[in-house]
Amino acid sequence: MASVILLGVIVLVALWLVVEPLRRGQVADPEASQRSELTSERDRLYAELAGPVEEARRPDLERRAARTLRSLDGLPPAPGSGGARRLALGGLILAALVTGIAAFTLVPRWQLASLNASEAANVQAVLSLPQLRARAEQTRANADYMAWGKAAFDSGQYDQALTAYGNALKLDPRQPVALRRLGILLLTRGEQSGQQPTEQDSTQAALLVRTAAQLAPNDPESQLLLGFTLARFGQSQDALNALERYRTLRPAGRDADDLITALRARLQQSDPALSVYAASCASCHGPAGGGGIGPNLRVSTLSREAMTAIIRQGKGAMPAYPNLKPADLTLLLNLLEGWQKAGK
Ligand code: HEC
Repeated sequence: MASVILLGVIVLVALWLVVEPLRRGQVADPEASQRSELTSERDRLYAELAGPVEEARRPDLERRAARTLRSLDGLPPAPGSGGARRLALGGLILAALVTGIAAFTLVPRWQLASLNASEAANVQAVLSLPQLRARAEQTRANADYMAWGKAAFDSGQYDQALTAYGNALKLDPRQPVALRRLGILLLTRGEQSGQQPTEQDSTQAALLVRTAAQLAPNDPESQLLLGFTLARFGQSQDALNALERYRTLRPAGRDADDLITALRARLQQSDPALSVYAASCASCHGPAGGGGIGPNLRVSTLSREAMTAIIRQGKGAMPAYPNLKPADLTLLLNLLEGWQKAGK
């Protein structure tokens, strides 16, 4: 905050340095009328002298021209001319210098102020990482390992996070945050270098993430990481369930949107019931039956027979589907019943 104010002050000073000389250029010239009179007199005399003039009048005209020029020279220089512009230019250079210096000394913090809260936290995490690491290595206390792990994880220093959370879990294995983060790190380490996780890492990762989700099922991150892990193992439906749970627990969380879309597409291709549903029903009842123009089908309490009647004959704004193939209708009813059991 303080640095933002400081930068504001510097910008204002810079602005003043440029604007003030120009503004002074606008100041009324007290000699203006006299000056313009003399100037036009001078021009008139020059014009007359340039034309055909009686020889007798010439000396007189020349004397008057000389007097006019002297009077003009006697006036103080007009403001707003070269002087002011030079001043403004000087101001501009000075302003650029001041701003440049300010940028070098202030910009890191200034940019931090313009980050959103979580980005700023990440930057802070990077900055505090060495101290947190040193403290954890010195005290070997669980809380310090966890703090180091969090800072490392948040700032993308995954090797450090792996070490920190690993050590924290040696001290206390029932820590969901450490469990699931260690799991996801095992699963994704080597990703940058394009390596597949080893069989052992994968199995261990899945175990850790699942355990974390069991210990803290209502923690959004538990469901998010569980969803990512299950998706890795090709368990699309379970992954989708976990990610949808995540979205319910943290409605503002957008981290899973892409994966949810991809999983739905994958399921739709592999699941004939979902492809029938997507073709005829999803536009009104939502891609996963969660509702839209039409009601949420996951919370519906209708029996199989009642649903069959509505699908065949329609109801209210819901169109009738008399031509659905019996096999497709069975698929749909199985799907809807599955959703009713799973709930929202
Ligand atoms: C044009 C939008 C639309 C489409 C397409 C549509 N529905 Fe509906 N559906 C509705 C509306 C609106 C209702 C609520 C009807 C009412 O109760 O008045 C409804 C109700 C239902 C119900 C009853 C839910 C309850 O608990 O009351 C079921 C089951 C249902 N739809 C299944 C389907 C299926 C299966 C499909 C695809 C074959 C489908 N719908 C296509 C709009 C639609």
